[in-house]
Amino acid sequence: MNKLLKFLTPPIGAAIFGYGVGLFYDLKPLFVGGSLAFVTLLYCILLTRNPSKPQEKGIFKNVMMKLPVVIVLSVIVWFAAGHFGFPIWWQIEFVAFTFVGLIFFVVLDLKTMQPEKGAARINMRLLGTYGLASVLFITITAQLPQFDPQVEIAKLEKPPVKLSGLAGPEVIAAGRRVFEDNKCFNCHKVFWEGNSDRGPNLGTKQVGLFNEDYLKEQVLDPRIIQSPGFEDPKSIKAMPTYYGDDLSEDELNALVSYLKTMRDPTNVPVEGKLGEQWTWWDDPKIIEEGKVVFEGKEPATEGLNCAVCHGTDGIPIMTGAFDFRNSEGVDSEKFPADERSDKKLKDWPDALWYKRVTQGVPATPMAAWGTMFPHLYLWKAIIYERTFHDPLDQRAAKVAIPPIPTEEEIKRWKDDGLFMDPLL
Ligand code: HEC
Ligand code: HEC
Repeated sequence: MNKLLKFLTPPIGAAIFGYGVGLFYDLKPLFVGGSLAFVTLLYCILLTRNPSKPQEKGIFKNVMMKLPVVIVLSVIVWFAAGHFGFPIWWQIEFVAFTFVGLIFFVVLDLKTMQPEKGAARINMRLLGTYGLASVLFITITAQLPQFDPQVEIAKLEKPPVKLSGLAGPEVIAAGRRVFEDNKCFNCHKVFWEGNSDRGPNLGTKQVGLFNEDYLKEQVLDPRIIQSPGFEDPKSIKAMPTYYGDDLSEDELNALVSYLKTMRDPTNVPVEGKLGEQWTWWDDPKIIEEGKVVFEGKEPATEGLNCAVCHGTDGIPIMTGAFDFRNSEGVDSEKFPADERSDKKLKDWPDALWYKRVTQGVPATPMAAWGTMFPHLYLWKAIIYERTFHDPLDQRAAKVAIPPIPTEEEIKRWKDDGLFMDPLL
């Protein structure tokens, strides 16, 4: 009993320590504690094994005996970290760390060295090792991003953003600076840019679709409405509430102008926390809101009523109007061959839906609704229309999360005429 207790003390200690570290850094306490305890337990078991006949191994045998274990461990570590939603760089770092362990254990098992021949040789070796370690350290750290005090001071001394005399792109650029200077990138990614996923990716979520008052409110008082998927107590408290004191009115206006550019006309918005995200296609709440728009009952889109032509139950009322119950339906023949999609409705990409609904079908009652109504609501109407041929409760699988668009793709949107300016 006593022995067992002694045996289990280090793993339990490691678990508590890991859990504490996880809590402190807001990094999956259960995972950190559990894995530390597991590794410690493994070492404890290895240490209690009675050593077989002490026999020194050559370096080749030494490495070969440990490599398979480390490879298996790396694979487990890789997938476990992936499962718990760690970003890819963390996964790589964890695996690199298991390999550092390999070096450590290989060095422990190296053949005993020859006894040193005199103090001079000892000093030479010590100095040599120290020199080599220093060279390695300096070369590696020189590759990492450097901290330049001048740059940091310049950042602090930057004059506050003033908008008078600025317009359009300049205001957006100023807003981007406000976003960078206030460390929003520490918690929010914007498409591919940013440092962590503590808060929603403001690009794939498409915050730019929301109105300016909503965005201001979320920056000044983020506790009022929680972003879907971020309702856990830790996320509720994560976003600082001091931006109201820190930002001048000009800075806030510029920031909102920049946030408004976070839109993606090629994909439906994505919600939720990394690892358990979903798209609006499968969100019952959004489908419900889309129904309200479709049936002409949304105050923000007064005058818009898809149902007048497409029918409340999806049976077209206006002859010629698209029938959303038919999953085999095809793109309008009004488009010239090179602009027409040959895909069946069930396979329509998000971008095609968006383009047709915002830009309409020429010379038909299907107008360019995107020039008249906020696109946020048009996306919602699109989400609802899909349910006529693909009801939510009969979907076999959720619609996959689209890959995050690259900088080049975003540039291409504008050339494709997909990005309507000014976006509402
Ligand atoms: C310490 C982390 C952190 C920082 C720093 C941070 N945020 Fe957030 N933010 C969050 C989290 C977590 C959420 C989601 C929970 C919520 O809605 O409050 C969020 C939500 C938001 C939302 C609402 C999104 C939605 O779905 O409605 C906006 C907009 C936003 N942040 C903008 C900003 C801006 C702009 C900055 C910089 C001035 C910033 N955030 C800085 C963590 C952060
Ligand atoms: C005034 C009547 C009318 C209203 C209102 C209307 N549509 Fe249409 N819609 C049509 C007609 C007619 C067509 C068929 C055009 C054709 O193929 O010639 C159509 C076609 C479509 C198509 C298929 C386009 C294609 O490529 O064939 C989509 C998608 C669509 N509508 C969505 C909507 C949505 C979403 C709304 C509401 C926001 C809406 N429509 C409102 C009349 C209307």
